[in-house]
Amino acid sequence: MVNAKPKVRIEHLIKIYGEKPRAALQLFREGKSRDAILQVTGHVLGIADVSFTVNQGEVFVVMGLSGSGKSTLIRCINRLIKPTSGHIYIDDEDIALINEERMREIRLTKVSMVFQHFGLFPHKTVVENVAYGLKIRGVEKKQRSQKALETLEVVGLTQWAGYLPASLSGGMQQRVGLARALATDAEILLMDEPFSALDPLIRREMQEELLRLQKKLHKTIIFISHDIQESVKLGSRIAVMKDGYIVQIATPEELITNPADNYIRAFIQDVNRAQVLKTGSIARQIITFTVEEDSPQTALEKMLYQNLKQIYVVRQGFPVGVVSRETLAAAIPEGREDITQLMQADFPQVNADTTLENIFHLYQQELPIAVVDESGKFKGVVEQSDVFASISSLT
Ligand SMILES: Nc1ncnc2c1ncn2[C@@H]1O[C@H](COP(=O)(O)OP(=O)(O)O)[C@@H](O)[C@H]1O
Ligand SMILES: [Mg+2]
Repeated sequence: MVNAKPKVRIEHLIKIYGEKPRAALQLFREGKSRDAILQVTGHVLGIADVSFTVNQGEVFVVMGLSGSGKSTLIRCINRLIKPTSGHIYIDDEDIALINEERMREIRLTKVSMVFQHFGLFPHKTVVENVAYGLKIRGVEKKQRSQKALETLEVVGLTQWAGYLPASLSGGMQQRVGLARALATDAEILLMDEPFSALDPLIRREMQEELLRLQKKLHKTIIFISHDIQESVKLGSRIAVMKDGYIVQIATPEELITNPADNYIRAFIQDVNRAQVLKTGSIARQIITFTVEEDSPQTALEKMLYQNLKQIYVVRQGFPVGVVSRETLAAAIPEGREDITQLMQADFPQVNADTTLENIFHLYQQELPIAVVDESGKFKGVVEQSDVFASISSLT
């Protein structure tokens, strides 16, 4: 990522559960397995030497089966749990070293947590629940209900402000949980399987909602999930955990195209590849008709040589049209060589970050789709056969 600014940095984090972790730590450093450590010391290795960096504005997903150490990790980050060893930097401040008072401050101002089971107060109204984080920050009453109402509007719950949580559906209750975390203006959101308790349909809605909010809010989010579909949908990167270790850290695309081992392979089997793969990563560089350089004659020769049926016409790097071999072959002998007259200016074009599921309908014209980068410049083409090959390829 360009200009990525680290927000949370974890270095060699180890967490061992139990009264006397020292002996267990020693065994771990000697290379003993999690099971061996448990057998000898009765101590559980929760996090096994984990390092990674989460950048400003990123949705960093931590995925793994139950018991793999996800909650332990996220709780170390806001120090609900004290790490046994290692460093956790938030904005370059090592929170493994600071005192309780400073940690409370950080929890109130920088880091907010959203829990799986919402964690709402049943006897407080929705707006009071949302205002709660501000109350313990010492924000004055009028100000905090104002802010709480504003945040409820962001998550679309204004009309429910005066109700008790029990009158709301699960999805709406979790919106309240989200609003409470957002109301404090914390830059970092820690979300521990926040949607796992919801029905599939509501769950998908909440995922969309989170992505929608994130587009506006640009928080730094560490999101825990045991679900691969959810992970590839939300994550800019995904760390896959197993038995306290991180097995692989990758973008969703890298994960499914280049899984580190069979553990990851088993996870990604269920992923709909068309929802994850982007045109940019399968676009083929291909010869173009460069207006500044090529004559129709040379273009036609190149097409015959490479057996292309069409060629994209590019001006100053931007695709401006597409022309077929037949058109060129017919026009050249007649001396009609003005390419802008010959080309078809209406052609399918997508950005490099478009997922494959969103391009199928563009193949009606049977033209290869032109893929452009952020500035609109030609990057290559994606043909229908490329799409099928990449979504069916077995890794
Ligand atoms: N307070 C605790 N005491 C002892 N072991 C614990 C404690 N909390 C979690 N564990 C163990 O640590 C491992 C990781 O747990 P956890 O972080 O909750 O995993 P996950 O969130 O991925 O399901 C598990 O083996 C779990 O049993
Ligand atoms: Mg957990």
